[in-house]
Parts: sequence; C-alpha cells; structure tokens
Amino acid sequence: MAERKLFIKTYGCQMNVYDSERMAEAMGVQGYVTTDRADDADLILLNTCHIREKAAEKVYSELGRLKELKLANPQLKIGVAGCVAQAEGAEIMRRQPAVDLVVGPQSYHRLPEMEAKVRKGAKSQETEFPEEDKFDHLAARPKAVRGPTAFLTVQEGCDKFCAFCVVPYTRGAEMSRPADRILTEARDLVERGVREITLLGQNVNAYNGHDAGLAGLIGALAKIDGLARIRYTTSHPNDMDAALIAAHGGCDKLMPYLHLPVQSGSDRILKAMNRKHTAETYLRLVERIRAARPDILLSGDFIVGFPGEAEADFEATMELVREVNYGQAYSFKYSSRPGTPAAEREQVAEDAKSDRLARLQALLSRQQHAAQEAMIGREVDVLFEKPGRLTNQMVGKSGYLHAVHVTGSGAVPGDIARIRILRSEANSLAGEALA
Ligand code: SAH
Ligand code: SF4
Ligand code: F3S
Repeated sequence: MAERKLFIKTYGCQMNVYDSERMAEAMGVQGYVTTDRADDADLILLNTCHIREKAAEKVYSELGRLKELKLANPQLKIGVAGCVAQAEGAEIMRRQPAVDLVVGPQSYHRLPEMEAKVRKGAKSQETEFPEEDKFDHLAARPKAVRGPTAFLTVQEGCDKFCAFCVVPYTRGAEMSRPADRILTEARDLVERGVREITLLGQNVNAYNGHDAGLAGLIGALAKIDGLARIRYTTSHPNDMDAALIAAHGGCDKLMPYLHLPVQSGSDRILKAMNRKHTAETYLRLVERIRAARPDILLSGDFIVGFPGEAEADFEATMELVREVNYGQAYSFKYSSRPGTPAAEREQVAEDAKSDRLARLQALLSRQQHAAQEAMIGREVDVLFEKPGRLTNQMVGKSGYLHAVHVTGSGAVPGDIARIRILRSEANSLAGEALA
C-alpha cells in the first residue's frame, strides 16, 4: 500500500494536543505518516475548539483556504475533529461542502473506518456519544522514541455546567480512565523517553479511577523509575481535596505549579456563573495549598464581562488577583456560546469588556514579570526539551513551568540539569549551567 500523508492542525486545549497524537497513531496503523505541510497531505484533520466564538470561526476560515487544495489534489480528504465537530456536527458539511468527515472527541477511535468510507467518495459523521470507551478501541500506542514531555488524558468531560461554558456539551459527562491503564500507558511513555507527564482532564482533580483519587494516581505514578516529573491540569477549586493538597507537600515528583481557575473575584458573578464557590473559599484554598508547598506557582483563568458584571464586580476580580499574586494566568473576554445558559442574558458592552481585559492583563502581566524577576539568582532544575534559536542553545522548563534557555551547557533533550537563573526576558528566563 502506498504511503499516505496526514496533516493535523490542532486548536484549543492540551487535551486536543493529546487527542491529535492519538489520532495520528490510529491513522499510522492504516499506513499514514504525518506531514507538517497541508499541501502535501492526502488527509487533513482540523482538531478544533469551540470554547469562544473566535476559536470556532477560525475553523471555517481555515476550511475556506484548505478547499483550494482539493482543486490541485482531488484525492485529498478533509476532516473536522474536536469540539466544533461535536457542537456543530452536520452544519459543518453544509457550510463547507469540501469537508468529508466530521468526528467528535469521543468517537475518533472510529477514524480508520470513517476514512475508508470517505475514500470511496461518501461522507462520514460520528458525533453521537458512543456507548463504548474510545480508549478501549484505539490501537496500542507505538513504541517509537519521542520527546521528553507528554500529555496523558486521565479524565474527560465535565458535570459542572458553568453558565458560560460549552465543554459539558462538547466533551460529555465526567469519565475517569482506570488507574491500571494509565499506569501502563505512563510506563510505555517512559520507555519511549518521556521524563515528564502532564495528566489531563477537564476537571482532572475529579478523577476517580483510583481508590484514592488523583492523589492516589499521582502516588502510583511517582513510583515509576525514570519518570521525573508529574503535573496535572485543569483542576477545579471544588475538587481540591486534602490528599491532593498534601501531595503538593509530600510528593517530590509533583511539580510546584498549579493551574487553578477562579474566573471571577465577585461572589455575585461566581453565583451567576454557577461556579459553586465564593472568592473567600478560593482564597482560603490557596492558603492551604501554599501552606503545603510555599513556593508553588499559581496560575488561573479569568473571564471579564460576564453578563451582569458591573464595575464593582470587576474590581473584586482585580482585588482577588492582587491577593493571590499569580505567577501566570490566562484572561478572556466573555464570549456568548449558543446553548449555554449565560448566552440568553443581557450582555456587557464590548468596550467595557475590552477596557476591563486590558486592566486585568496589565496587572497579571506585572505579576508574571515579578515572579520571573524573583527567579534571578536562584538555582533550579531544568528539563531540556529542544534546541533554542541560538547556536548551542537548549530550551527547557523549570519545575515552575518557566521556559529557561541555556547556551553552551552541552545538554540534550531529556536531560535535567541544575541551572542558575541569570535574566528574565519577555516570556522566558535565561540561565547558565552549574559546573
Ligand atoms: N475545565 C477548565 C477549563 C475549561 S475552558 C476549568 O474548569 O477551568 C478554559 C477556560 O476558558 C476557562 O477556564 C474559562 O476561563 C475560559 N472560557 C470558557 N468558556 C468561555 C466563554 N464562553 N467565554 C470566555 N472564556 C471562556
Ligand atoms: Fe467549563 Fe466549568 Fe466544566 Fe471547566 S468546570 S469545563 S469552565 S463547565
Ligand atoms: Fe476547546 Fe474543547 Fe478544549 S472547546 S478548550 S478543545 S475541551
């Protein structure tokens, strides 16, 4: 069979990155090799994100460009995967007839049969939530050597139904993978050269596939020789239990970085968002986490301009940010998503949203840079991932997830080395290897 080429473009969150890898592997069994050029491909998959309007719209403009490639190569097939596929289904093929297949995030184990069908000239859509678990039906992962960091999905879906969010609809109900499967997959990744695993879930700390929850899973993973670092994302404040907090103090392999979204600092808005926690409970939680691991670097997500957000609510968010002092954070203007409860409510004016976002981002950026500056002169372990832009330069991450670049250390990807931080730059740190 002639070798076929697959081009995958990934949008959205880390789980899509993981899914794209699994889709490429599933198609690899069918004789596909990946290419980084769309114009070279026999099959193009867009693994899409529906979280904000802009993310979803990007897909249609990309499809508009890609359809031109079909003129040059009539054999080319185009597929849409991920959360836009789940949310919009057949609508995608109506809007863009060049699309051959549409596959939701819980159905991509069916890609091989779907591809065979579209090769025969038919269209194929799989966006019902299937009875079976895709992980039980995907082919075994290949043994090929790979980079030193990997994502590993342990939990999927969300039962929280925040009023703004599409994820419970696109990813479905909460589901945890059994711990033994995860441990096997992790051991295989380590054999392939992985030294750091980031456990993924939409509510990763709601993980219940181990008797002792996510903390239990982390403890079991920490026993794998050769696995040096463990991270997890994204956690929900209401699922941070005592055992998980304690793991941040007791497990050396669990890195001192935690993404803990709060969305808003106003109790009125948190209630309207259906977050089921207050600003105060979040702040007390942060205190407990910092008591367990004083140097932990906290990250968060924020939405400004949620329906009903007044200036005073926004000020409460600014106040919470000042109190927590984040090392890093993401912030977004509220984007109305069809089918979610908040979409029906009276919207905040666009210029107020822009103004608040600029103020919040200025504050978060000051905090990020202060956290980076505070690293200068400190010694940290860096896991090197890839060559940098300069000759003899390598880039890696510290335990705090800061990107660190080092010149002339002689390190290769996968090495962990003790590095002294010399400078803070826009979004990274510069360091030198200790003799
Ligand atoms: N499960 C994770 C994150 C899901 S989406 C959690 O609970 O935190 C990632 C982030 O996108 C969210 O934390 C939120 O800040 C943002 N987001 C989600 N829906 C949004 C919307 N409709 N408009 C703007 N931002 C949104
Ligand atoms: Fe979306 Fe809320 Fe679920 Fe996170 S917890 S995925 S923000 S509904
Ligand atoms: Fe986007 Fe779906 Fe992830 S909507 S953020 S790709 S779960």
